[in-house]
Amino acid sequence: MWDEVSKPLVDAGHEVVVYGNNHPIKREEFEAELEKGYDGLLTLLTEKVDEGLLAHDKNSQIKIVANYAVGYDNVDVGACSGRGIRVSNTPCDEVNESVAEFAWALTLALARRLPEAYEFMRNAAYRGWEPDIFIGSDMTGKTLGIVGMGRIGGMVARRAAGFGVRVMYYNRKPVDGVSLEYKGNLEDLLAEADFVTLHVPLTPETKHLINKNSLAHFKKGAVLINTARGPVVDEAEVAEALRAGYLGGYGADVFENEPDPFPELLDMENVLMTPHIASATVAARKRMGELAVVNLVEGLAGREMPNLVKA
Ligand code: DGY
Repeated sequence: MWDEVSKPLVDAGHEVVVYGNNHPIKREEFEAELEKGYDGLLTLLTEKVDEGLLAHDKNSQIKIVANYAVGYDNVDVGACSGRGIRVSNTPCDEVNESVAEFAWALTLALARRLPEAYEFMRNAAYRGWEPDIFIGSDMTGKTLGIVGMGRIGGMVARRAAGFGVRVMYYNRKPVDGVSLEYKGNLEDLLAEADFVTLHVPLTPETKHLINKNSLAHFKKGAVLINTARGPVVDEAEVAEALRAGYLGGYGADVFENEPDPFPELLDMENVLMTPHIASATVAARKRMGELAVVNLVEGLAGREMPNLVKA
């Protein structure tokens, strides 16, 4: 896919160097590489782009950082702009849709206890139909609380219609054109929601938005879904709420200290974790690549970048 997607860079006359290993580049390796001199970078969310890294761009050659993700909390946009570097991200419907679908996949899987049931099958424990094994929760008549009504939150809400679920959302302010029930206070939403799904960017304000204090407002047995960013949640405090039986389940595609989840979560049967794959569909990955490339091509030519991130 990359050869096809990166063609516009080659066509524009750029030399493209790809870090071909199947794991994130080590920081020291990245720093040493930058000393060779690059005009633009296409970064993944595993690469922290900060002043310390950019200091290795000895001749201030880098002009563009195109981050291959919608979220750009891995990039210090201020440090970049201080060096005259423009930053872009890859917002697009393809990513929004695949993340929204994935949030639903985690929600339904936890509601119907699929991880536990699958484990049961793998352990050859099924001996015949029984009326009372793996009793879960249906969605009909339940309440879904969406935290953050941006593009992804909106797509999660649209998909709720078929499940007969009541939807409410928390956002800093009501969103124009969204007729769903609005809660201006997170605690009010948490007190009523059976399922809570997070769709906020990681910022200093949203770091540990879900912590001991906010967890105390959850409805007993509620399920929390995180496809946003790991640090929006205090994982140790979520583990504590699960252990106490207060939180009913946790579905997480992202982790506070990626790639390592808080160890205790790995042993809990009402936790479902996936390796940051909410946007891992062919359509989304292709579009992310195309957007990162078009931003590099336009930016390196000194033109307007379609997905410029404001400093
Ligand atoms: C994003 O785009 O921010 C996702 O987390 C990775 O695709």
